[in-house]
Amino acid sequence: MSGRVFSRASATNPPVAAQAHGSTIVDTEGREYLDAAGGAIVVGIGHGRREVAAVMAEQAGRVAYAHGSAFTSDPLERYAKAVGARLPMDNPAIYPVSGGSEAIETALKLARAIQINRGETDRWQVISRWNSYHGNTLGALDLSGRQPLRAPYEQWLGRFSHVSAAYPYRGGQPGSRSLGDAQLLVDELEAAIVAAGPGRVAAFVAEPIVGATLGAVEPPEGYWPAIADVCRRHGVLLIADEVMTGFGRTGAWFAMDHWGVRPDLLVAAKGATSGYWPFGFVAADGPLYDAVRTGRGFTHGFTYSHQPVAAAVAGEVLRILEAEQLVEASAVKGERLKALLRDRLGDHQAVGDIRGRGLMVGVELVANRATKAPYPRAAKLIESVVQIAAERGLLLYHGAGNANGVDGDTVLLGPPLVITDAELVRIADGLGEALDLAVAGIAG
Ligand SMILES: Cc1ncc(COP(=O)(O)O)c(C=O)c1O
Repeated sequence: MSGRVFSRASATNPPVAAQAHGSTIVDTEGREYLDAAGGAIVVGIGHGRREVAAVMAEQAGRVAYAHGSAFTSDPLERYAKAVGARLPMDNPAIYPVSGGSEAIETALKLARAIQINRGETDRWQVISRWNSYHGNTLGALDLSGRQPLRAPYEQWLGRFSHVSAAYPYRGGQPGSRSLGDAQLLVDELEAAIVAAGPGRVAAFVAEPIVGATLGAVEPPEGYWPAIADVCRRHGVLLIADEVMTGFGRTGAWFAMDHWGVRPDLLVAAKGATSGYWPFGFVAADGPLYDAVRTGRGFTHGFTYSHQPVAAAVAGEVLRILEAEQLVEASAVKGERLKALLRDRLGDHQAVGDIRGRGLMVGVELVANRATKAPYPRAAKLIESVVQIAAERGLLLYHGAGNANGVDGDTVLLGPPLVITDAELVRIADGLGEALDLAVAGIAG
């Protein structure tokens, strides 16, 4: 008798990762892969940083675990102070957990606890957007507006409601569940809040820049300040899901910084520990935290929340981001990557849009540039692009279904923020080559 791994990989025999450094992963055969996606847009400070491993080992040797209901720890207290100075919030308090989905679940329950504490006990409804991703646990999946992921579990979902995605490239197209005009989007959210009834909606949750589902889509100008205003006027908490966009990914510490918007709750994970340790957190604006803490409290917790090794790793990652000015680097390198992509792919027959901020860059693929018609899902264009690129040693992240929930293909690029210029050139060339071959394969 022997056991097996319940594989996540689509390939039957995925390569075995052996080592990683900078923006490169090396398998046990010695093959090198340029990690143009930082895994799932996770790795900011680069692979193989020995200083992180040293901090991790030191903390594990000192105190690896002490239950969060009984103890706090130095690394956690230090991290809360350090990250608090970077968050777009007033004297925030962080609730640390083990990843993005857990952090989203925590944010949902915290929003409810804040409303109950205010005496607003009828506020339990939550609104999110179509074409979004907030995680795979049931509450987070219910928020997510991504049909292929929801479909098998639809009977278990349906607690939350959805408004249109902010998606200027396809806004208003039939079946896209998107709008491109800021005023229409803002009016739609306000109408949904009003339709739910006075004092019924607890929170609105959205990604500041849409990641996996649409491929680095920014909202139209004016959207975020106006949305924040609608939420405040109606007593609805604004929850920014910065799991993908946080920690410099978009060229600012947090994507909400681009619009000067301060959310009530902010959710982070991925780049916070750059993949070195499973970690995420919800940050609550200071006055909200103080009120709950001194009021009716927050009934919640996980065995691995408030974990000291996680906090030590997060602290070291934050230190490296600051010391090496990687947030600023993300802004500059992102512009360079978009320029390279426009040079290589701007006139490509299968490229409809090149977009994004910082090192979160999306390329939307289309069958017809004039009509924006997508390739049919059955053509599996994006799967071919990703596979051909991987065979040539380039790792990409992708999405499908962006056009109408089924069809549509996007490439999402999110390399480590330490990526070199030569590697950015290789990404643009490698993507171009893979796309040429994939499109030729479909045509032939
Ligand atoms: C915006 C966003 N929210 C939440 C999640 C869920 O995070 P995790 O996979 O760590 O549970 C993701 C993961 O891709 C994400 O991109």
